[in-house]
Amino acid sequence: MRPQVVGVLSRSQGAFDEILDASDLIVELMGGLDPARDYVLEAMRAGRHVVTANKQLLAHHGEELWATAREHGVQLRFEGAVAGVVPVIRVIQESLAGSHVERIHGIVNGTTNYILSEMAGRGLSYEAALADAQRLGYAEADPTDDVTGRDAAAKMAILARLAFDTPVHIDQVRYEGIEHITPADLAYARDLGLGLKLIGTAERVDGGLSVRVHPAFLYGGHPLASVHGPYNAVTVESPAITEITMSGPGAGGPQTATAVLGDVISAMIPPASTPETTHSLPIVEDVTSAFYIRMEVADRPGVLAQIAEVLGLQGASIKTLVQHGLGDDARLAMTVHPILESRLFAALRLIGRLDFMRSEPRAIRVIEEEFV
Ligand SMILES: NC(=O)c1ccc[n+]([C@@H]2O[C@H](COP(=O)([O-])OP(=O)(O)OC[C@H]3O[C@@H](n4cnc5c(N)ncnc54)[C@H](OP(=O)(O)O)[C@@H]3O)[C@@H](O)[C@H]2O)c1
Repeated sequence: MRPQVVGVLSRSQGAFDEILDASDLIVELMGGLDPARDYVLEAMRAGRHVVTANKQLLAHHGEELWATAREHGVQLRFEGAVAGVVPVIRVIQESLAGSHVERIHGIVNGTTNYILSEMAGRGLSYEAALADAQRLGYAEADPTDDVTGRDAAAKMAILARLAFDTPVHIDQVRYEGIEHITPADLAYARDLGLGLKLIGTAERVDGGLSVRVHPAFLYGGHPLASVHGPYNAVTVESPAITEITMSGPGAGGPQTATAVLGDVISAMIPPASTPETTHSLPIVEDVTSAFYIRMEVADRPGVLAQIAEVLGLQGASIKTLVQHGLGDDARLAMTVHPILESRLFAALRLIGRLDFMRSEPRAIRVIEEEFV
């Protein structure tokens, strides 16, 4: 059986009702929430399978859409919505359906990974790397969704929903972007033997679930540390399988079209399941992480001791420390052992008020696992 296109809808051509009447399956690639949500719901209520690449739609309205698909016995497929052509949805929904997933880490935004790779490799500023990404078509004219981490947050909401069988709305995903990363952060990362990536995490924590996106340092042995340029990669950890990593092109016309066509063909062969809610895990806000901290301070006796004391009072212990002189000032780059994020940030707020500080202290999480 070969699929045939019976009609195309854009803002200037095509009639949705006519296309719906003539089709067995609807492909939604208009993006956005409205009217995409209405069209997708109407198609499924009319008994049509739907294929979409719309991560924002799923991250906002996934529960309603999956419930409608189940109710009407149709398939809703969305491989192109996360990591482009990399088959992460299929693998989590089907291949790993029998495993107890503990954690997912993902580089799920190619734009930010390209920008960070260029900053690390060529020493470019954030602004120069973003301009390059825009010139090469890796970043949109308005890159806000990508650089703030919002695009990655939507994708992590979808992955978490599937891996942990629990509803996850995009509003429950905390996200930070890469706009404040400087070439100095990447230079220190190199000094400390680390790589810097925008990482999405979904993991079980204390009987709940934490889903978040933020820049993080990775040791060289982590499978995501070697993912450079506009590529995406997702690592799934589970006791039964240790970890598997899937990587490849995360966006682009032909790549996304390949994922969409794969879904169309899959929908034409016997049905796959639509996700059901089997748990209702609480969302955990405060989690433990190792950190890299950068501070600019006056270079005078006693400064380090005071910083160490404030960190120590909050339970943070320093793992590595590098100091660079800047005339009368000094730049400190340190890593600290895992600590509750709230405690680390409380210490940094106190340190930020000390009179020898030359700027706000900056903190970036460090993912410590290595798989070698
Ligand atoms: N591009 C990628 O690499 C990529 C990767 C993964 C996922 N996606 C997802 O794929 C979807 C499409 O992205 P894209 O980059 O292809 O966007 P795009 O270039 O803006 O294309 C959107 C298409 O939808 C049509 N459209 C928009 N609003 C419409 C409306 N109200 N009624 C009818 N037609 C409408 C537009 O046609 P007219 O302007 O002629 O009306 C255009 O053909 C988004 O959900 C995006 O997140 C894209």
